[in-house]
Amino acid sequence: MFLLRLFVTPTLLFLFSSSLSLVLAQQCRLVRSSEALVPSPDEPFPSSGPGTGNGTSGSGSGSGSGNTTATLQPFKYGQTPVRGVNIGGWLVLEPYITPSFFNATNNTDVVDEYTLGQLIDRDVALQMLQNHWDTWITEQDFADIASAGLNHVRIPVGYWSVPITSADTNYTTSVDPYIPGAWPYLLKALNWAKAHGIHVILDLHGAPGSQNGFDNSGQRTSNPVWGLNTANQSRTLDIITFMTKEVGGMVDVIELLNEPAGFNGNNWASAIRTYWQNGYQAVRDTAGDNIKVMIEDGFLGITDWENFLTAPNAQGVIMDTHQYQVFNNDQLGYSQDEHISSTCALKDGYSSYVDNNIWMVMGEWTTAMTDCATWLNGRNVGARWDGSMNTGQTFGSCDGYSGDSSTWSSDYKTFMRRFWEAQVDVSEAASGWIFWCWKTESADDWSYQKGVEGGWIPKDPSDRIYPSICD
Ligand SMILES: *[C@@H]1O[C@H](CO)[C@@H](O)[C@H](O)[C@H]1NC(C)=O
Ligand SMILES: *[C@@H]1O[C@H](CO)[C@@H](O)[C@H](O)[C@H]1NC(C)=O
Ligand SMILES: *[C@@H]1O[C@H](CO)[C@@H](O)[C@H](O)[C@H]1NC(C)=O
Ligand SMILES: *[C@@H]1O[C@H](CO)[C@@H](O)[C@H](O)[C@H]1NC(C)=O
Ligand SMILES: *[C@@H]1O[C@H](CO)[C@@H](O)[C@H](O)[C@H]1NC(C)=O
Ligand SMILES: *[C@@H]1O[C@H](CO)[C@@H](O)[C@H](O)[C@H]1NC(C)=O
Repeated sequence: MFLLRLFVTPTLLFLFSSSLSLVLAQQCRLVRSSEALVPSPDEPFPSSGPGTGNGTSGSGSGSGSGNTTATLQPFKYGQTPVRGVNIGGWLVLEPYITPSFFNATNNTDVVDEYTLGQLIDRDVALQMLQNHWDTWITEQDFADIASAGLNHVRIPVGYWSVPITSADTNYTTSVDPYIPGAWPYLLKALNWAKAHGIHVILDLHGAPGSQNGFDNSGQRTSNPVWGLNTANQSRTLDIITFMTKEVGGMVDVIELLNEPAGFNGNNWASAIRTYWQNGYQAVRDTAGDNIKVMIEDGFLGITDWENFLTAPNAQGVIMDTHQYQVFNNDQLGYSQDEHISSTCALKDGYSSYVDNNIWMVMGEWTTAMTDCATWLNGRNVGARWDGSMNTGQTFGSCDGYSGDSSTWSSDYKTFMRRFWEAQVDVSEAASGWIFWCWKTESADDWSYQKGVEGGWIPKDPSDRIYPSICD
């Protein structure tokens, strides 16, 4: 998710005012009882933690032994469209996805997982997290995702949840003040995915030093340092190597890092390029050629990534680009038709990028057309739309745009269906899409699950009401 930073830097002002679309296995045999997998403060990574049995060394999706009854065939990227959802707000918290979790801290200064770890008693916070990990996503969600005709999930995970040991890195393994413990839940999810025939993109969503300062990087800060700090970057490479070694055979794709802030200047942009190259090599060296590697455009637009990690120097690389039209005033000012037409305008560039470069997936997008979802811009931060964020412009009341869909007009739901179909049309001209996100506690405009229930997202993602929407 592209979220607001508290202190707007000149680069961000440019970004916000720009009209560019910048913002534009092997089966893991978890035979232990789920009890044994639950981490405790003393043992945040139970010995079974990082999985028992794993299919590393280039086994790719679904090869190897283990649960041989449900081997997934390797996904044919570029031939079959990726259709998926992000498992948002689970292993990395986001205030707008589960506001009740944040309220239950009784502390309004807890705005992300970093401040959770700093401000709340560790035992209490761990218990809250374990309860959340146990309940927010269960196997039923994977069954429902499969029933919705989807073939992929993208699972965000923070570096603090990856149980790397000092044998795997020469950097610190301390994750203070973060609270580790999510890894065993990831392993469960990989098993659920396999059991329900769903392919997995494992997405490192938060890196040491923060790669963007958004709350969903783990730390909401005006001063993220990952891009300027080579130790943070090298440590992240060790974490990628570890993840690949541990679960590379249980996932289809490793995404090297979510939304690094390429807009923070040349030093950042060049650090990201170097990191993608080194990360690609780290995955290949660890797990061979079958596993796919996902990189991102870093908010620089795909045109910045021509001839990058293309064959014959690299293979099996997927570009991830994120599309939101709700985080700057120019795009919030679009009419419904302008939301559709600006989306459709991406189509030719997308298809030519995949023809001339590498696969590309629209890895985050939404049918929301406002930033009205409570705390979308951060806990205790208002919205641009209704002026409560004080950006100097107001578009209207937030009533009827977020929250419970029973308060929405049929015109709004019709627009969302059109917007869904336009974005699917455009991204399927590339290699497919991953909607942000599967479920939310109360912001129905960001929930795929609610969309399917409410009809603004089809039950079968190949159904179209507006098949010529971008023609
Ligand atoms: C997975 O396999 C690798 C390579 O054999 C090994 O180093 C790692 O410890 C294994 N992980 C688990 C959880 O067994
Ligand atoms: C959380 O607290 C805010 C502010 O008091 C309130 O508006 C909101 O309804 C609460 N949300 C939940 C889910 O409890
Ligand atoms: C928050 O307050 C409620 C009600 O007093 C209490 O039950 C709960 O334990 C508190 N939570 C924390 C994290 O202190
Ligand atoms: C740590 O440093 C030693 C000595 O330089 C080196 O042999 C080893 O490969 C390094 N380990 C990692 C994980 O980079
Ligand atoms: C193996 O996979 C099948 C099919 O998904 C599933 O029903 C079964 O429970 C799995 N067995 C084990 C031991 O995980
Ligand atoms: C990232 O770099 C900063 C700045 O040098 C350093 O203080 C910090 O320890 C590093 N963070 C991690 C988590 O490695």
